[in-house]
Amino acid sequence: RMAASEEVFVGSIDQGTTSSRFLIFDKTGEPVALHQEEFSQIYPHPGWHEHDPHEIVQSVQNCIEGALKIFEKDGHSKDSIKAIGITNQRETTVCWDVKTGEPLYNAIVWTDTRTAALARELKARPGSDKLQDVCGLPISTYPSVTKLLWLLRNEEKVRSAYEAGNLAFGTIDAWLIYKLNGGPEKNVFVSDPTNASRTMFMDIHTLKYSDQMIDFFSYEFDLRKVHMPEIVRSADPKSFGQISSGSLQNFPLTGCLGDQSAALVGQKSFQPGEAKNTYGTGCFLLYNVGDKPVISTHGLLATVAYDFDGKPVYALEGSIAVAGSGVKFLMHNMGFSYASHKITELAETVPDNGGLVFVTAFSGLFAPYWIDDAHGTMFGITQHTERGHIARATLEAVCFQTKAILDAMEKDSGHKLSELKVDGGMSNSALCMQTQADLVSIPIVRPQMRETTALGAAIAAGFAVDVWKSFDELREVNTAGQTTFAPKMDPKASEKMFKRWERAVTMCKGWLA
Ligand code: G3P
Repeated sequence: RMAASEEVFVGSIDQGTTSSRFLIFDKTGEPVALHQEEFSQIYPHPGWHEHDPHEIVQSVQNCIEGALKIFEKDGHSKDSIKAIGITNQRETTVCWDVKTGEPLYNAIVWTDTRTAALARELKARPGSDKLQDVCGLPISTYPSVTKLLWLLRNEEKVRSAYEAGNLAFGTIDAWLIYKLNGGPEKNVFVSDPTNASRTMFMDIHTLKYSDQMIDFFSYEFDLRKVHMPEIVRSADPKSFGQISSGSLQNFPLTGCLGDQSAALVGQKSFQPGEAKNTYGTGCFLLYNVGDKPVISTHGLLATVAYDFDGKPVYALEGSIAVAGSGVKFLMHNMGFSYASHKITELAETVPDNGGLVFVTAFSGLFAPYWIDDAHGTMFGITQHTERGHIARATLEAVCFQTKAILDAMEKDSGHKLSELKVDGGMSNSALCMQTQADLVSIPIVRPQMRETTALGAAIAAGFAVDVWKSFDELREVNTAGQTTFAPKMDPKASEKMFKRWERAVTMCKGWLA
């Protein structure tokens, strides 16, 4: 082992929907320390989902301290940490007062559907059909803009800050960077294109705020009066500032990527045509399309994969709102079990879904369907149905949506994917990954080290300070010990399963009163 003084490490903050983590990676991409903390999920009404912005920051700080303790106990010196990257849940919206740095409302989470009626109103306005060409996303409850408009309309505190010219709006990356830097005093207020592209305010072609987008959404409130973060590159030695307190005080933040882009980077899908699927709280398939955005005509999103050097790389994205949160629903709401791997074990107690389909549309239905008013629907319940079938149908729901997304991607890109790289909590389930392979009829490749989201942010941060200088140096990172799931099911049988899913999807629509 190297002398402590020669070692080189990169830290990574991973602020997800249900937990925060801090990991420390060595130069070979191995995590040497990790601390994770869950925080409160606030569901005040059906369809509403909030986080406490202070608790989010606190959980990140706790994770940093926790991981650092392990790191130092193992004989490493914190001075060998050269940079820190940030990756985060995207779209989740925080409003705060620029003078005080205090949040004006809870963060509205990306899954929240309180804006379904507002989204419908926006879609009915002239010019709404032109927006996707500019920003890459269709109007729905999902992007940050609808959440901001809802807050302006409904929250007195947000409106008065707006009227006084003091309203700051940011996604979680911007909020965290601002707070970790010490808030209003330093006023480091930035976001990277992978996050900014999820607000609907950014022109995906230029990576700058778009007048057309801002004008479209400014019919009730002048959004030019709202302070928005400056958009900077995903790897940047200066713009993200430094941590202002705690054990890593004065350590530089040098990388920032939305979590799904980070996973694409962590899976090293740097070549056009490569794709990854991350089964986290939700599930997100990103397909690298190279240096030009592809505007989908089949229900996918155009998004930024990363911008390390002013030459942005783009991805086509298929977003699924419910994956791990479906498993958590069975555990916490239905009392099925206290451990997520037990849900897979339960699913294994039955040979198949017994005809049961569960459309887990808790947040409406995302890609490729985009049905804002869809509600969760179980189809095919009989006296034969038992808990095993429900567990199985919950896992399968993600696999069916992934299949629908891959079909759409093939139409948009004209290419058939040759394999799909996977990661995230549900990818631990061999049953789920085998079902996925059976449904999409291509091999599913799962790496041994599945903290790819955090690794991606570390890579961004490391690039900014020359810990790594080229993608070539990363070729060996996380290559050993992968598992491949090859399709086994008779294609006719998987087609039949998928037809039943499509039938169930048609039944979950039209619930907005
Ligand atoms: O768009 C939301 C996404 O970034 C959240 O990711 O992993 O927390 O489900 P995850």
